[in-house]
Amino acid sequence: MKEKLLNEFARVYGDNKDVRVYFAPGRVNLIGEHIDYSGGKVLPCALTLGTYAAARRRTDDKLRFYSMNRPEYGIAESMIRNYKREDEKDWTNYLKGVMWAFEEEGMRLESGMDIFIYGDLPEGAGLSSSASLEVLTGFFLCDLFGFEVSNEKLALLGQRAENKFCGVNCGIMDQFSVAAGRKDHAIYLDTSDLSFEYIPIHIPDAKIVIANSNKPHALNESKYNERRQECETALQELQKVIGIEHLCDLTEEEFETYQAAILDETRKRRVRHAVYENSRVKKAAEALKNNAIVEFGEFMNASHQSMSADYEVTGEEMDALVQAAWQQEGVIGSRMTGGGFGGSTVSIVKNSCITSFIEKTGKVYTERTGFVADFYVVEIGSGPVLQ
Ligand code: GLA
Repeated sequence: MKEKLLNEFARVYGDNKDVRVYFAPGRVNLIGEHIDYSGGKVLPCALTLGTYAAARRRTDDKLRFYSMNRPEYGIAESMIRNYKREDEKDWTNYLKGVMWAFEEEGMRLESGMDIFIYGDLPEGAGLSSSASLEVLTGFFLCDLFGFEVSNEKLALLGQRAENKFCGVNCGIMDQFSVAAGRKDHAIYLDTSDLSFEYIPIHIPDAKIVIANSNKPHALNESKYNERRQECETALQELQKVIGIEHLCDLTEEEFETYQAAILDETRKRRVRHAVYENSRVKKAAEALKNNAIVEFGEFMNASHQSMSADYEVTGEEMDALVQAAWQQEGVIGSRMTGGGFGGSTVSIVKNSCITSFIEKTGKVYTERTGFVADFYVVEIGSGPVLQ
């Protein structure tokens, strides 16, 4: 891959003198959905699929961007310290947003750069292609300009770029799992204080299979921000009767006792998802530590049901894809992963059944929805690296 990127870089920019090549992964969340902005616990892992950058410093202030995934855009140009969000060149916003966040933090970029990007992660599939690009950018800025930044800080700067520059009010899970990924481990992250633990994933007779629904998710951002708002309102209502800082500080029993303080039935269901999902993650993490994979799969299934009925972030197509998976032989668990309203599902499938799982799940899904899903049998990878 490194050779290929260096050659492509030279083709686009004329030569590849002083170019360095970097990689940052995408992520899949095994369980703990839509609770990373409510102080909950989540259990994502980094993938071996992700985003590559070939980059070098320039002697002037110019920034040049090229993406092999968007050749139709050609080379996009801008300048350091003149970072503007441009909706028509949307993918460059993630890079410019991170540069802006670094400079805000006092890390001055002393020159422009030539940057070449290539990703093998399906975009808009709920596998954090944007967080991958953000953390990748932070990582190569550190290398090219000599900044010392911890993984946690890289994640926070990526999140700041996404929230403040790109205008998506995401939580910390995606950037954190990309920055802190570890091969063959899930990251058991407490989003209330960013403490975390690596849990080895040792499932010799099964694999993680991702299915991209290929359903375009046009409403994604507005619905995401709407869920966040509902949670904030419910938190204020609950804080009148119980001293909590985050929704996920509530135990299941406390939720049942105090739920009358939430003055709207929809908001009550949102909080019920957050509270029960958080306790499911804790139990699922224990199950994973004990290699109790069947039990882990049951928590995944319950997580999907809660996202569908209470949090309402799945939609017809994602429900159809998960239901099709549940019917198949050798499926240990299956659920929607990521922000929702489209995107991907994650399933754990016995090795001997993977081929039939892909064929039959795909067939049922297409019959029910008309969309064609893409399947990926994935490996758990590590955080950003210099190639
Ligand atoms: C998106 C956001 C994350 C998280 C998930 C849902 O991926 O970027 O912060 O909220 O949705 O779990």
